[in-house]
Amino acid sequence: MVSVAVVGATGVVGETILRVLEERQLPLGRVGRFASRERNGVKATSDEALREYDVVFFASTEDASERYAPPLLERGAFVIDNSSTFRMREGVPLVVPEVNAAAVRAEHRLFPVANCTAIILCTALAPVRDVAGLRAVRVATYQAASGAGRAGLDELLAQERACVEGTPLPQPSAFPATLAGNVIPQVGRIDASGSCGEEEKVRDETRKMLDLPRLMVSATTVRVPVRTAHSEAVWFETERDTSVEALAAAFERAPGVVFHRDGIVTPRDVEGRDEVHVARVRREDDASNRHFVLWFVGDQLRKGAATNGVQILELLLSRGFLPQ
Ligand SMILES: NC(=O)c1ccc[n+]([C@@H]2O[C@H](COP(=O)([O-])OP(=O)(O)OC[C@H]3O[C@@H](n4cnc5c(N)ncnc54)[C@H](OP(=O)(O)O)[C@@H]3O)[C@@H](O)[C@H]2O)c1
Repeated sequence: MVSVAVVGATGVVGETILRVLEERQLPLGRVGRFASRERNGVKATSDEALREYDVVFFASTEDASERYAPPLLERGAFVIDNSSTFRMREGVPLVVPEVNAAAVRAEHRLFPVANCTAIILCTALAPVRDVAGLRAVRVATYQAASGAGRAGLDELLAQERACVEGTPLPQPSAFPATLAGNVIPQVGRIDASGSCGEEEKVRDETRKMLDLPRLMVSATTVRVPVRTAHSEAVWFETERDTSVEALAAAFERAPGVVFHRDGIVTPRDVEGRDEVHVARVRREDDASNRHFVLWFVGDQLRKGAATNGVQILELLLSRGFLPQ
């Protein structure tokens, strides 16, 4: 039986990985829990301790992935890494099973899980790419506080409490400004070009996952005072003429997508769900059959991180790439 370790088991993604593994009842042997230090049921991470496992999920920091993944890969273990450390490395697949499962080959051992915003975007856009091609994507995001980990979630909750109690708001530290009752048009560091880190990840990783290296991708990523689930509004241009009806049919067929023909869908509706929920498909401009607009929402802790990683493990198991 395959043994699995989760590094970062006390964090919001690590906890979700453990929950999803249990829910999906994979045929696993031992499941080990690791963090930066030992406490009840969780061990301190070390090379020696991880050596006992066939598959290691990383849901911690870039430093931890850089430090612990290479020796694991050297001895043939499988690594499923939620950090950004290895995502853009040449020859390393960036897999969303509904989008590019064919990218997985028997010799691969290292599977980065892409940026949460990009996974949700690619799951929603893959049906468009398949039915009409994609030429350009412009996206505005509305990202939840838990996207910045437990510290981000706790910061929002503490600020919300202070608002209700009428006490002074605690100073922001996980975010560049107060998030409660606000929106912050910056996710990650802003570089010399004026883009922030999340916007660059969305562009680069979307191109890699959709296998469209020249796709025009322009993102504005925004943090909003929502606990869990990222929302995105996307304006896209297709390669070929299409219609709202053809796109709606493609979304209805698409794996991992729930299509809402009518009405809206919000972060609260999708918290705890594994699918990306697509709604409000419409033409951008009556004069064009190639310009459309969409709204979609996905739980970034599940489909944007934990569930996508566990789906990669399921893919490896079903293809017989792992020792059973
Ligand atoms: N949050 C999201 O929505 C999301 C989505 C996609 C990807 N990700 C990525 O997933 C990873 C985890 O994010 P998160 O949001 O779950 O963060 P988090 O809530 O802050 O949790 C971080 C976890 O990493 C552990 N850790 C920190 N330093 C470590 C070290 N040197 N060795 C071993 N464990 C260490 C922490 O353990 P202690 O409790 O001992 O400190 C904790 O369990 C990050 O790479 C993040 O970029 C996050």
